[in-house]
Amino acid sequence: MPSLIIGSDHAGFSLKEAIKPFLSEFNYETNDLGPHNEESVDYPDFAQKVSRLVADGEYNRGILICGTGIGMSMVANRYPEVRAALCNDLFSAIMCRRHNDANILVMGGRVIGIELAKEIVRAWITTPFEGGRHSDRLDKFCNCRNSE
Ligand code: RB5
Repeated sequence: MPSLIIGSDHAGFSLKEAIKPFLSEFNYETNDLGPHNEESVDYPDFAQKVSRLVADGEYNRGILICGTGIGMSMVANRYPEVRAALCNDLFSAIMCRRHNDANILVMGGRVIGIELAKEIVRAWITTPFEGGRHSDRLDKFCNCRNSE
C-alpha cells in the first residue's frame, strides 16, 4: 500500500485536522507527523521532517500545510528528490500531477477552506502523471525520480 505523511505548523493545524479523516477514503497508509495542538511552531521544522521522509523513500507522498503554503513549499523544494507543489486551487492540483509528478502537496490553511482543500487533495491523489515529454523535463532538474 502506498504511504502518505502529513504535517503542518500552527497556522495549518486546523486544516490538517479537518482533512485527516477524509484521507482514509484513499488507499494510502497515512501518518500525521504533527503538530498535535495549535501552539506556535516553526514551519521549517515540519517541512524538513516530511520532506526528508519523502526524499528518502520512507513515504511515497507528503502533504504540508502552513498559513499560506509559501514557507513550506520553499523548504520542501530544497530537497532534490522532492517535487512540492503549492496548490490553493483545483487546476494547479490536477496539473501538478499530470505534468510535474508532484510528490508533496502544499496548501495554505489561511487561504483556502476545508471543502476546496478536500477537492484539491482528491485531485492530487487520484490524478496520474502523464510521463512522456514531462518525464524528460523532470529529468533535467530532478536528482532522483521515485514516482509510484
Ligand atoms: C506563520 O505565522 C506563517 O508565517 C506560516 O504559517 C507560513 O504562512 C509561512 O510561510
